[in-house]
Amino acid sequence: MPPATSRPAQPNRPWTRPENRCRKAFRGTGGRSAKPLENVDFWKNGRSGRIRTCDPCVPNAVLYRAEPHSDKRPAYSVGFGAPQAAGLRNFVPVRTGLKTLILPAGAAGAEAAARTLTAGGLVAFPTETVYGLGADAANPTAIAHLYAAKGRPAFNPLIAHVPDISAAQRIGRFDARALQLAEAFWPGPLTLVVPKIEGCPVADLATAGLDTVAIRIPAHPVAQAILRAFGGAVVAPSANISGHVSPTLAAHVESDLSGRIDLIIDGGPVEVGVESTIVGCLNAPMLLRPGGLSRERIEAVLGAPLARPPLDAESDDSQPLAPGMLASHYAPRAPVRLNAREVAPGEALLAFGLARLPGIEAASAVMNLSPTADLDEAAANLFGYLRELDAKSPRAIAVMAIPEEDLGEAINDRLRRAAVAR
Ligand code: TXA
Ligand code: MG
Repeated sequence: MPPATSRPAQPNRPWTRPENRCRKAFRGTGGRSAKPLENVDFWKNGRSGRIRTCDPCVPNAVLYRAEPHSDKRPAYSVGFGAPQAAGLRNFVPVRTGLKTLILPAGAAGAEAAARTLTAGGLVAFPTETVYGLGADAANPTAIAHLYAAKGRPAFNPLIAHVPDISAAQRIGRFDARALQLAEAFWPGPLTLVVPKIEGCPVADLATAGLDTVAIRIPAHPVAQAILRAFGGAVVAPSANISGHVSPTLAAHVESDLSGRIDLIIDGGPVEVGVESTIVGCLNAPMLLRPGGLSRERIEAVLGAPLARPPLDAESDDSQPLAPGMLASHYAPRAPVRLNAREVAPGEALLAFGLARLPGIEAASAVMNLSPTADLDEAAANLFGYLRELDAKSPRAIAVMAIPEEDLGEAINDRLRRAAVAR
């Protein structure tokens, strides 16, 4: 932290220039005496932090304060320029002072959710795949708050949730194959990306400026009740901090988003446990994201294999084809080691099936996704178990091999992204 004294200015440290010096902001540890104009949270590389912008006498100077973890002291650093320019990919200002109400699912909960959505608020609710964080799809301000609350890059578009196919057709254009998939699998864990119709009511901010829109009809009765009570489309990403593991319980939502959203409807544990399968229906139907509906079932209805997205869809910084495909995503804080055949001392083990790995006695914790090697059960347990193991702060999470079939494709996809070095 540079003291605000009369040291010579250094070319790469603009705050050392006399005109940029700010005693108030930079004195002492982390500018204790600074009067922050704004408190904003960020999420980067799995760590949360708080950015305090400094006195206007130092335009664009920002103080980064990484929140203390365990017994460590908070770390500070000073950046210069807009926060985005300072390399925080997911930087966003966040309203952190909200009081988050938690209500049980039911008629009163659905009414409260609809009122909150109408007022431009943010509501987390269960779907059969994962908990979603809903905002009025036609309200750009609410959507801006949603991106901010999650710390989600605004180039990553959202799924519009509607209660039935006629509502879906008021948003997107369905060709014969899209309609075939909609009729076979909706309501359910399938999202279809289709061209927007003329005058599509979904705000551009939610579709990241694309001329296509992702649509889903969830089957969960609580999601259905909220959509019907609200009466319009609801955009809803998974209700977690961006890049973190998706929530399968209301408690997961609370731990990520409490203070940032208005309401959580608690409908108990979700059934499927991984996000919806996303199929692009623009030319040949294309599997954009494996998910809670298996490729095999979709291909059986289409009578043809699903196309694969081009390889560069994995790119981390361009606008991704389905940005749920960002390379590092769904990540716990602990490193994740895949296809483990043994357990190293201090590692946690995420097991699958009955095989007993060497070294298991020295594991710091063991959870089994499905002792009977049932892939549906494993999908339902995946995110909750990753969170539980992660909470024990193991050296790493070792994961046993999972077969790449049925929901195993989605499970392995999420695990690979969780394992990407951050
Ligand atoms: O199961 C689910 O799909 C959950 C529940 C809440 O419905 N939602 C969910 O949303 O997983 P989210 O935001 O975490 O993932 C949505 C994915 C993102 O990868 C996004 O890039 C992709 O959908 N997407 C949205 N609109 C798109 C579009 N027009 N074209 C391609 N991909 C799109
Ligand atoms: Mg998500």
